[in-house]
Amino acid sequence: MKFSLVLALAAAAAVFASPTPSATPNRIVFIRHAEKGCATLPGDETCGEMPRPPGGGWPPRGPPGPPGTPRKFPNGLSADGKRRAEYLRTFFGNASEFDFGYVFAAPREPELKHGERTYATVAPLASDLGVDVDISCATAPDAGACLAAAVARVAPSRDVLVCWKHRELHLIAAAMGARNAHTHYPDERNDVVWIMEGDITDKRSMHMPGLDDGRVDEGDPDLVVEPVDNAWPGWVCRLLAYVLY
Ligand SMILES: *[C@@H]1O[C@H](CO)[C@@H](O)[C@H](O)[C@H]1NC(C)=O
Repeated sequence: MKFSLVLALAAAAAVFASPTPSATPNRIVFIRHAEKGCATLPGDETCGEMPRPPGGGWPPRGPPGPPGTPRKFPNGLSADGKRRAEYLRTFFGNASEFDFGYVFAAPREPELKHGERTYATVAPLASDLGVDVDISCATAPDAGACLAAAVARVAPSRDVLVCWKHRELHLIAAAMGARNAHTHYPDERNDVVWIMEGDITDKRSMHMPGLDDGRVDEGDPDLVVEPVDNAWPGWVCRLLAYVLY
């Protein structure tokens, strides 16, 4: 009796301690949009570098007007951001170590997507790769679940690129199965790349010449991969206790 209990516990431990299979076998690469600027919209000739308001920070974005009207707080990429988007064509392109078969971005208004930052960041690359930018999850109630479902239809051997709002990247990675995506993407950076293979396995800088020259990876806290939390959740312990006793 004691022995079978020990066996049952050992079996349960083996099941719960084994790595959680990721929702998808694909390698998934997460990036934030490139540097902020101002979208060029029809009738808006003043668009250029968006000035930082005194005191820093950015003003809250106003509600979008009807399609085609200039925004109160413009979206879009700065000149640096556009250079980074161009750089991604090399960094993630056909000659890179990556093989993207699928690209996601997050414009909420399809008719304005070309001026939206996440879309504008990956559009030149996607065009090179010959893939469409999937924006269908941008307005989903649960973007992470939507992305996971879409990735499940991508061939497992192909890489997937997700360009999203930086404050949501860790939530999306977690929803897609990463157990070590608790810290959000750094607010002041646009160069950090997260790579997920089941869990987040690597964080690196793009080291784009001209924009990321001062970056030193050694000791960079933004590149530290969080440990995988293997502790059993409380409900597992309670379930085990209930089943076994
Ligand atoms: C990159 O590879 C894809 C798929 O093989 C191909 O369709 C595309 O034309 C290539 N792009 C360039 C710029 O060579």
